[in-house]
Amino acid sequence: MLAGRLNVATTTFRVEEVPTPDAGPGQVRLAVAAAGVCLSDVHLIEGMLKPPYLRGDSVTLGHEVAGVIDQIGDGVAGLRVGQRVLLQAGEERGGTVLTRGVDYDGGWAEFAVAAADTVVPLPDALPFEQACFIPDAVSTPWSAIVSTAKAQPGKAAGVWGIGGLGAHAVQLLRLIGAAPIIAVDPLEAARARALNFGADVALDPADPGFAAAMSAATRGRGLSTAFDFAGVPAVREQAALSLGVGGKLVLVGLADQPLHVSNGTLFSYLRQQLLGHYGSAPVDVTDLVSLYELGQIEFSRSVSKVMPLAEAAEAVRMLAAKDGNPIRIVLKP
Ligand SMILES: NC(=O)c1ccc[n+]([C@@H]2O[C@H](COP(=O)([O-])OP(=O)(O)OC[C@H]3O[C@@H](n4cnc5c(N)ncnc54)[C@H](O)[C@@H]3O)[C@@H](O)[C@H]2O)c1
Ligand SMILES: [Zn+2]
Repeated sequence: MLAGRLNVATTTFRVEEVPTPDAGPGQVRLAVAAAGVCLSDVHLIEGMLKPPYLRGDSVTLGHEVAGVIDQIGDGVAGLRVGQRVLLQAGEERGGTVLTRGVDYDGGWAEFAVAAADTVVPLPDALPFEQACFIPDAVSTPWSAIVSTAKAQPGKAAGVWGIGGLGAHAVQLLRLIGAAPIIAVDPLEAARARALNFGADVALDPADPGFAAAMSAATRGRGLSTAFDFAGVPAVREQAALSLGVGGKLVLVGLADQPLHVSNGTLFSYLRQQLLGHYGSAPVDVTDLVSLYELGQIEFSRSVSKVMPLAEAAEAVRMLAAKDGNPIRIVLKP
């Protein structure tokens, strides 16, 4: 089968022929129908992000995966061949949470195997292209907002980076009633989509009037919660400076650089908090599928482009270069 493989030692990525895997005990095999391209994949290929638990040097990328079950391993109950499903972006093995497509083979491939308890059935009305990125591009901001930040209705929220994660964060903050929602992105097209997804204000981080505009938007109170969905070091400092009393900055974007809080005394005086965030819990994904079925959220605007798996390297280049201003590019084997 075809698979998009990264050699992490040499940071070479190639779509190549590999043996088709079989479902082992407790596993199912999926004929992959759609797989999302995340900026974390770009970070992996660039070598900034190293898989912490990978055995060996090579891995099939892809942690956002949906498809049809085509093989069932021994001891698996409650799932059937032909069932439309998506895969949780990771699984627990011996107390360690491993990430699919990072620590073990993922779904940028014609077939992918998965532990049966990481399989989530899909409603018929939810297309594979829109479902595949729920684990991660939707569930990670959801978990960051609801569990890590515990964002409150009627309280100001700032979102830095209106890409795959941030565009969904705006929609989800709107859903829980956070207000005002202030979106920040250097790209004009990203600011426009933030407003379209429900942000009240959209700011350019390089605008010399940024601090004044942030203050005006929050009526001088500052942000109750701020989210880094960009993975750019400068964001963290600007976001920290935009917090109000008791404000929390949640770091979701991954940037392998020292953290810098320039006004440490005020940060303590205002009892502000800096919180790291990673991934989501399985229940976040199932809750989001339910919210979709209830008509509370929808993802038709989120699929910027569908590309053949064979063109994965080009999809990665486009996301890194923001070519076509993608929210999510989806690969189709
Ligand atoms: N912690 C986690 O669990 C987790 C999960 C998934 C992704 N990530 C990380 O989240 C980040 C975002 O991923 P994505 O796939 O949404 O990326 P993306 O490329 O789709 O979006 C990033 C956005 O940030 C914007 N941006 C760049 N510089 C900025 C600045 N100075 N201020 C504000 N915005 C700026 C870009 O214009 C773009 O719109 C990445 O670092 C990724 O690795 C973390
Ligand atoms: Zn991701």
